[in-house]
Amino acid sequence: MDRSAQLYLLITSLLLLQWLIDYSSANSDINADRSSLLAFKSRISLDPHNILPQSWRNESNICSWMGVTCDSRYHRVTQLNISSMGLVGTIPPEIGNLSFLVSLDLSNNSFHGPIPASIFNMSFLEVLNLRKNSLSSSLPFDMCKHNLHKLKRLRFSYNNLFGEIPSSLEHCSLLDYVSLINNNFSGQVPTQIGNLTLLQELYLGANNFSGNIPKEIGALTNLQTLDMSVNNFSGYVPREIGNLKMLQLLDLHNNELCGNIPKEIGYLTNLVSLGMSTNNLSGPLPATMSDMTSLEFLGVAVNHLSGSLPRNIGNMTSLWTISLAYNNITGEIPKEIGSLTNLEILSIPINGISGSLPREIGNLTSLVDIYMDYNALSGHIPIEMGHLVNLEYLELEHNNLIGALPKKIVNMTSLISLFLKYNSLSGMPFFLSCTIN
Ligand SMILES: *[C@@H]1O[C@H](CO)[C@@H](O)[C@H](O)[C@H]1NC(C)=O
Ligand SMILES: *[C@@H]1O[C@H](CO)[C@@H](O)[C@H](O)[C@H]1NC(C)=O
Ligand SMILES: *[C@@H]1O[C@H](CO)[C@@H](O)[C@H](O)[C@H]1NC(C)=O
Ligand SMILES: *[C@@H]1O[C@H](CO)[C@@H](O)[C@H](O)[C@H]1NC(C)=O
Ligand SMILES: *[C@@H]1O[C@H](CO)[C@@H](O)[C@H](O)[C@H]1NC(C)=O
Ligand SMILES: *[C@@H]1O[C@H](CO)[C@@H](O)[C@H](O)[C@H]1NC(C)=O
Ligand SMILES: *[C@@H]1O[C@H](CO)[C@@H](O)[C@H](O)[C@H]1NC(C)=O
Ligand SMILES: *[C@@H]1O[C@H](CO)[C@@H](O)[C@H](O)[C@H]1NC(C)=O
Ligand SMILES: *[C@@H]1O[C@H](CO)[C@@H](O)[C@H](O)[C@H]1NC(C)=O
Ligand SMILES: *[C@@H]1O[C@H](CO)[C@@H](O)[C@H](O)[C@H]1NC(C)=O
Ligand SMILES: *[C@@H]1O[C@H](CO)[C@@H](O)[C@H](O)[C@H]1NC(C)=O
Ligand SMILES: *[C@@H]1O[C@H](CO)[C@@H](O)[C@H](O)[C@H]1NC(C)=O
Repeated sequence: MDRSAQLYLLITSLLLLQWLIDYSSANSDINADRSSLLAFKSRISLDPHNILPQSWRNESNICSWMGVTCDSRYHRVTQLNISSMGLVGTIPPEIGNLSFLVSLDLSNNSFHGPIPASIFNMSFLEVLNLRKNSLSSSLPFDMCKHNLHKLKRLRFSYNNLFGEIPSSLEHCSLLDYVSLINNNFSGQVPTQIGNLTLLQELYLGANNFSGNIPKEIGALTNLQTLDMSVNNFSGYVPREIGNLKMLQLLDLHNNELCGNIPKEIGYLTNLVSLGMSTNNLSGPLPATMSDMTSLEFLGVAVNHLSGSLPRNIGNMTSLWTISLAYNNITGEIPKEIGSLTNLEILSIPINGISGSLPREIGNLTSLVDIYMDYNALSGHIPIEMGHLVNLEYLELEHNNLIGALPKKIVNMTSLISLFLKYNSLSGMPFFLSCTIN
């Protein structure tokens, strides 16, 4: 035999050996998969559509079971997806024996009890979706320490989970999506969150987190969505947030944040939605805000903001909603507001706005709601207001407005509500004389 024939023989016998090993191990492991799925089935206490008894029959091949996907080579279970089937039950530890599992989706059922620790032991798992169940347990402190290194998407939202975010989460370094919304997680967000640099979406809203927003969050430069709303976060908004150049949604509303809105916020030129209402923020709206030319929603109501509206607000031409109720904003409405031609909601009630309404407000024909009640507006209502044919709510009560209502108001046929009490206005249009409040 020449060398190449020897080599050929060697390779074929190695391949044969490999096949034999694969075959026998696959065969024993598919039985582990089967008993794991049967253990899972045995924990289902209610199956309203009778899916599992019909489909998950012991005598049939598990790869044909409803919601089960196997890989073609080893016939091992790689995906289990039984979302939205109305199932009630608990998740048995045997689920961890599905050792080739890549994707587990049990979302939108009624699984209760704890998440078994074995779930955090699956080394091929990339997608873990337990959203919208009634699971209640804490997460093991070493959750990402041993395995789970391939995990990319983690969805635990809408359960009754509690305890802290384990700092070992940093070892799940491929995570790009984490949602813990609407649970009872508490404690501080670990600084190690900053190691998850591939994160694109992070949802921590509607929990019981407290402490400062860690400045390490500024390392998550791929982040597009950051939701930390409805928690007990306190302290300053870290200026490092300005590093998150990809951010499109930043929601920090309903917390106990204080101090100024950092001027670095203006670096977020891709931001579409900024929610910071119901905190203890003070100081002025930073002038740098005008660089946020993609911003559509500006929500900073119910804080202690002061100072006046920045003149260059006119640069924020994507704005759709300005919500600044319950602050201490003073000064006049800048005439530059007339450039915000996409504006539908202008809500600045209960502030200290003075001066007269600028005529340019008549340019904003997209406007649907104007709430400027409880301010110190003076002068006449500009006749240009009559151009706002889409306006439904015009609330100006408790100001110092004088003179007659513009006649054109009869042509504002969309008006539903006109609140003008506690001004010094005259000449109410007859057709509104009954509905004027
Ligand atoms: C399921 O099938 C396996 C063999 O395929 C058998 O050993 C086992 O006893 C069966 N279990 C039940 C509950 O029928
Ligand atoms: C599970 O199935 C549902 C419905 O078919 C689908 O919308 C969802 O994307 C699947 N989940 C995964 C992780 O593939
Ligand atoms: C959740 O499951 C129910 C059926 O149990 C279904 O009607 C509903 O559309 C599902 N919701 C989502 C968001 O998939
Ligand atoms: C499956 O997992 C359970 C609990 O995690 C374990 O006790 C059992 O030995 C495993 N069974 C098989 C067949 O691997
Ligand atoms: C995780 O897997 C290792 C082996 O890979 C095993 O020794 C350990 O008991 C498992 N832990 C859990 C919680 O299943
Ligand atoms: C949330 O957890 C705290 C303890 O950390 C507990 O006192 C509280 O009752 C829990 N709330 C809910 C709604 O489960
Ligand atoms: C987390 O980041 C810190 C600081 O960049 C670094 O020292 C540490 O090694 C990182 N940890 C992991 C697990 O990568
Ligand atoms: C939040 O956690 C505190 C303890 O840290 C607890 O007293 C409180 O009940 C929790 N709030 C909710 C809404 O669960
Ligand atoms: C506005 O300022 C006044 C005087 O400084 C203060 O008493 C009031 O509490 C402030 N209101 C808000 C909503 O911050
Ligand atoms: C922003 O607004 C100011 C004042 O209205 C103006 O001078 C400036 O040119 C504007 N910048 C851009 C980039 O549009
Ligand atoms: C805005 O309104 C003013 C006064 O009504 C008018 O002079 C001006 O041309 C308008 N500007 C734009 C950009 O439409
Ligand atoms: C209302 O609109 C009609 C039709 O466009 C117009 O003839 C009329 O002059 C307008 N009324 C006022 C007060 O502008």
